[in-house]
Amino acid sequence: MLILAIESSCDDTAGAVVSAPDQVLSNIISSQFKIHAPFGGIVPELASRAHIEAIRPLVEQALARAEVGLDDIDLVAATQGPGLVGSLLVGFTFAKALALVKDLPCVGVDHMAGHLLSALLLDDPPSFPYTALVVSGGNTSLFCVKGHTEFSLMGRTRDDAAGEAFDKVAKLLALGYPGGPAVSASAHKGDPAAFAFPRAWLDKDSLDFSFSGLKTSVVNTVHQFKQREEPVPVADICASFEQAVIEVLVAKTVAAARRNGHRSVVLGGGVACNRQLRRQLLQQCQDNNIRLFVPDPVFCTDNAAMIALAGYYRYKQGKLLLPDDDAYSRSPLN
Ligand code: KG4
Repeated sequence: MLILAIESSCDDTAGAVVSAPDQVLSNIISSQFKIHAPFGGIVPELASRAHIEAIRPLVEQALARAEVGLDDIDLVAATQGPGLVGSLLVGFTFAKALALVKDLPCVGVDHMAGHLLSALLLDDPPSFPYTALVVSGGNTSLFCVKGHTEFSLMGRTRDDAAGEAFDKVAKLLALGYPGGPAVSASAHKGDPAAFAFPRAWLDKDSLDFSFSGLKTSVVNTVHQFKQREEPVPVADICASFEQAVIEVLVAKTVAAARRNGHRSVVLGGGVACNRQLRRQLLQQCQDNNIRLFVPDPVFCTDNAAMIALAGYYRYKQGKLLLPDDDAYSRSPLN
């Protein structure tokens, strides 16, 4: 079965052709980075317009790269939510229209489900059950994953997502957009122990996260340097901030896996590209006799291959879209 999948939940238009369940024949991403960079963040209206321009050529490219035509496709899958509704509607409506015209079944996929299953695209994938941390610009959530469609939430952020905190700190320090890679590159040159930024452990045993207090603490520190007219030690601030984020992510993820009695942990979402996070989580997993699975960076960030994979299992459950089904901004899984 050949699946054509479309993802447009945020600022990347993505298309993929996957031979079910997990053989990726093409995986194309059109980034809107240059459009949003001058604003230091995503402008929803511009994102929707850019998706409209990109979607058709991108789908044609995904088919061409897979060396198949539309007539070879058996199933269409599209991200239904969560995300920016204006962005989601472009890919979701395009997919529904395509399926209607070609008389193909169509499934709506939760973006989180895609991230939770993305490690199944690895050559050596994890077996169920596993604990998954999805950490991106929009989400920071821990899940117990029991099967292809069985996910239960264990903890989530009560305010900012970790990637959002990275982006805000980057903006404060004028490091550019997207902020995560810039903060992490600067952190590489700094001392992670230079500033004792707060770690939000929250209630005892809580697997929830909170990054807004940390962000405020970074803001106050930067202001103090500016008020004293002293140079801001950017690298040390980035390193100390990054360490404060990572320490909590790693500790809570390992605690969740131990609570579940799981021997496998999966890391997904854009922040999974952070090298320190991978390194420290790997170390903690090894110390606890747990295997860590991290998809290739292209499958950690927003992509349509993971939507095809998750869409296939929704299709097997018979969960087909109806023409009136709508996109949603908040995930029922979260
Ligand atoms: O999953 P993703 O591509 O998009 C969504 O948020 O849905 O994640 C993007 C987020 C951004 O906040 C970006 O700053 C962050 O992932 N990010 C990183 C790194 N690379 C990307 N954060 C920390 N370190 C990185 N190396």
